[in-house]
Amino acid sequence: MTMDFNRTVLVTGGSGFIGSHLVCALVNKHPEWRIINLDNLDYCCSPRSLESIEDKANYTFIRGDVCNPRLLNHIFNTEHIDVIFHLAAKTHVESSFQSPSSFQLVNIDGTRVLLGAAHQARHQPQRFIYVSTDEVYGASLDKVFDENNSVRPNNPYSATKAAAEYLVRSYWDKYKFPIIITRSNNIYGPRQYTEKVIPRFLTLLQMNKKCTIQGTLPKSRHFLFVDDAISAFLLLLEKGTVGEIYNVGTSCEIPIMQLARQLVKMVKNVPDSEVNNWLEFVPDRPRVDLRYPITCEKLQQLGWRAEVSWAEGIRQTVKWYQENPGFWSEAVEDQGQIRSKLEEVTKT
Ligand SMILES: NC(=O)c1ccc[n+]([C@@H]2O[C@H](COP(=O)([O-])OP(=O)(O)OC[C@H]3O[C@@H](n4cnc5c(N)ncnc54)[C@H](O)[C@@H]3O)[C@@H](O)[C@H]2O)c1
Repeated sequence: MTMDFNRTVLVTGGSGFIGSHLVCALVNKHPEWRIINLDNLDYCCSPRSLESIEDKANYTFIRGDVCNPRLLNHIFNTEHIDVIFHLAAKTHVESSFQSPSSFQLVNIDGTRVLLGAAHQARHQPQRFIYVSTDEVYGASLDKVFDENNSVRPNNPYSATKAAAEYLVRSYWDKYKFPIIITRSNNIYGPRQYTEKVIPRFLTLLQMNKKCTIQGTLPKSRHFLFVDDAISAFLLLLEKGTVGEIYNVGTSCEIPIMQLARQLVKMVKNVPDSEVNNWLEFVPDRPRVDLRYPITCEKLQQLGWRAEVSWAEGIRQTVKWYQENPGFWSEAVEDQGQIRSKLEEVTKT
């Protein structure tokens, strides 16, 4: 029996942290929509992230590279894609200093290829939502950025995200292709890969190692719980104005030092006097961004509010990492096996 779906949504990067939460929300909330996930399963993915929905009738997975024009043209010519959420990207700021070319390839070229295929599709998409970052503004000590501020990215990751934004906007300016851009704060929650700060601290503590604090500068970040980010993306799909940019933010700003101390207390259950035993200071890269304050009034005018407090979000996150201690180490082992199998195949 074939089912009739009334909307087809393509999510790129749907196996990643935010992508997997978005795919699960779409699949569960909208059985009448068909959800296609295109992802090449980079090192930061676990197959377990999507196990709760992978057998659902309205879900399809395509393992593939967003930079592959033949694949992308094929997808857009054989499926009637109505909505695109573009999340596929290289995302780890530290790595972007070591391998900027792979960031350019995926984040810029991948976006170019996807836009080209989507725009030329026989069935015209209604929305193309590009998930960008507050980091495109560059850091600020006191200025609070709104969507009209100019961008000034200052690391290779944010530079590629900003470049991709310009490509996306050019399709609006030139063709009135119905794009929306989101710029969000740091997003956190269950299933985030261990290279990002909250899961890194939690994983270190679970291994009885100290939290490594980079540098001595008073760095802080705004943290938005993943469910709130997803509700913003879904609201923007229905109510966002095409051609516009929306900040997706939170007033919850946490100094990294305070974050580490809070996580030590939650995971190790130690009194204040012993917290420092679980902290270690390591050198930082030069000119790290201290903070990224943004205002998201434009999004709030559409009716969005962050619903999950920091206390509740971090409680849920810590609980998930405590209940799933092998989630990422096993994923890395699986990936290692896949890689060595591939090497064997390519050798013969
Ligand atoms: N995590 C945050 O705090 C945050 C904040 C703002 C914006 N963003 C943006 O949200 C998006 C998702 O971020 P995330 O934190 O979930 O990252 P992530 O690294 O967990 O996920 C990225 C996904 O993209 C996939 N991918 C990478 N290269 C690909 C390629 N060539 N073809 C197909 N798929 C590919 C990966 O396999 C992975 O599933 C990114 O575009 C990121 O820039 C993230």
